[in-house]
Amino acid sequence: MDMLVKLYDLPQKAEFQKNYDLLSEEGIEIRRAIAPERHIVVDWVKTHFNPHWASEVEAAFSNNPISCFIAIQDGQMKGFACVEATCKAFFGPTGVDETMRGKGIGKLLLIETLHELKHMGYAYGFIGGIGPAEFYEKVVGASLIEGSTPGIYKNMLR
Ligand SMILES: CC(C)(COP(=O)(O)OP(=O)(O)OC[C@H]1O[C@@H](n2cnc3c(N)ncnc32)[C@H](O)[C@@H]1OP(=O)(O)O)[C@@H](O)C(=O)NCCC(=O)NCCS
Repeated sequence: MDMLVKLYDLPQKAEFQKNYDLLSEEGIEIRRAIAPERHIVVDWVKTHFNPHWASEVEAAFSNNPISCFIAIQDGQMKGFACVEATCKAFFGPTGVDETMRGKGIGKLLLIETLHELKHMGYAYGFIGGIGPAEFYEKVVGASLIEGSTPGIYKNMLR
C-alpha cells in the first residue's frame, strides 16, 4: 500500500535535534549524496536491498539537485532515502544497514527527504509501496491510502 503524509504538518527538523546530536556523537552524518558517490550508493543498495531499489536510486541521482540522501560513518554507507525517484511527490526507497537500525537513522533520513519534498512546493507527499506502516505513522503521522495496492508498481518487470 501507499501512504499519505501532510507535508504542511511535517515536524520541524529542530524537534529532532536530540537525534541529530546522538548520531553526530557517533560520527554519523545525514546529507544529500553527490554525483561522484553514485556508483557506491547504487552498489550498496543493490547488495543490501535489491536491484529495483538500486534502479530507483539511479533515477534519484539523475534529478537536479540529486534527490537521494545518505547516512555515512567513517566514509562508509549506513543508510539512504530517496524522493521523486519513481513518481513526483513520492518518498522511497529507503533503508538502513541492518547493524545500525534503531538509532534514529531511518527517522532522520525520512525527515530530511520529506522536508525536501515540502520545499519543492508539495502540500502532500506519498510513501510508495510501504514496508513498515507503523514507522511512518509514528514518525510523520502518515496514513494508509485505501486501494493503493499494487498502485504504480502494477505489472512491473521482475
Ligand atoms: C524501516 C527502517 C528504514 C527504519 O530505520 P531505523 O534507522 O531502524 O529506524 P529509527 O531507528 O529511525 O526508528 C524511528 C522510530 O520508528 C520505530 N521503528 C523503526 N522501524 C520500525 C518498524 N519496522 N516497525 C515499527 N516501528 C519501527 C522505532 O522504534 C523508532 O521509534 P522511537 O522514535 O519511538 O524510538 C529500517 O528498519 C530498514 O532499513 N528496514 C528495511 C528496509 C525497509 O523496510 N524500508 C522501508 C521500505 S518502505
